[in-house]
Amino acid sequence: MSGVKIAGVGKGLPKKRVNNFELESYIDTSDRWIQERTGIKNRYISTGETTLDIAYEASKDAINKAKIKLEEIDLIIVATVTPDCFTPSVACLLQGKLGLGDKKVMAFDINAACTGFIYAMKIAKELIDGKQSKCALVLGAEILSKVVNWKDRNTCVLFGDGAGAAILKESEEESILYSMAYSKPDEKEFLHINSIGVNNLFCKNENDTHLTMNGKEVFKFATSSIKYSIKDILEKSGLNIDDIKYFVPHQANYRIIKNVAVDLKIDESRFFINIDEYANTSSASIPMALSEMYERNLISNGDYIVLVGFGGGLTWGASLIRWVS
Ligand code: UT7
Repeated sequence: MSGVKIAGVGKGLPKKRVNNFELESYIDTSDRWIQERTGIKNRYISTGETTLDIAYEASKDAINKAKIKLEEIDLIIVATVTPDCFTPSVACLLQGKLGLGDKKVMAFDINAACTGFIYAMKIAKELIDGKQSKCALVLGAEILSKVVNWKDRNTCVLFGDGAGAAILKESEEESILYSMAYSKPDEKEFLHINSIGVNNLFCKNENDTHLTMNGKEVFKFATSSIKYSIKDILEKSGLNIDDIKYFVPHQANYRIIKNVAVDLKIDESRFFINIDEYANTSSASIPMALSEMYERNLISNGDYIVLVGFGGGLTWGASLIRWVS
């Protein structure tokens, strides 16, 4: 077998759904501002669920849809910027929670912020191609509500919690045709979640531990990196824009996606958008989008789909997939 197939996708969410009107009672904001500037109407916010909890829900969903035996999984990669602790990784905790504790599994987390799922998929694909794995569980999972500053209206209204998962399996057919993942240092601190718990014998961390963002600069980086990624992946694969059924960008702001659609002359309807329901869930947004597209029967055998991520690091990247059902 020489290919890698996406055998199943799934998602997991905290129970509580919070709309913009509810946020008006906590901070000086309005449903109108949030919708007009971002396209967001709702988000899911943890009332106690951990990153592991929602990663577990997403995993069960993907495993059921992939119709694989749990024991087939030999690799778990979780992309996250909000793990439950420094160690163990969410991936190791998930291995245990899934009941795979006594199986031969390689499990680890990665941090590539909102591009995390693209990075994780690329690593899993290369490990499967290199015969190091036969069946990988790959996730993006975030509880961002624990790191946003709920007193900063510039950022807190933008983010939500969620997890998305995919099963990548060795196969006769190839689903992951091309992947690219890049980074450059965020020297001007456009997007940061500051360190937590750094209080050693000699230095005390008095930094704000919350997420901070220069929205305007990240907006510019986002639009240019999506455009670059789409052009790059099409050029390298030899496909045209018209060959692609759906573009699935990281869901950070509806206006970012709209700008890209206009600039690249791609009809907006070919961009999958669900930011209205989930807000920005960082590494989880792309696998959650794939899961929802699957549930809504939007993707069929043979469809070409471009996944595009961008975010903190700074990182960006894309995957060209051909859906194999
Ligand atoms: O996943 C990581 C990637 N993240 C992104 O891609 C985010 C990229 N950036 C953005 O999406 C946009 O820059 C934002 C949505 C963050 C901000 O949109 P903007 O159009 O750049 O707004 P702004 O920062 O220029 O703010 C405009 C006004 C300000 O008021 P004044 O100074 O003009 O009076 C803000 O104080 O809107 C005000 N404002 C708000 N008003 C009500 C900012 N946040 C809020 C709010 N509610 N929540």
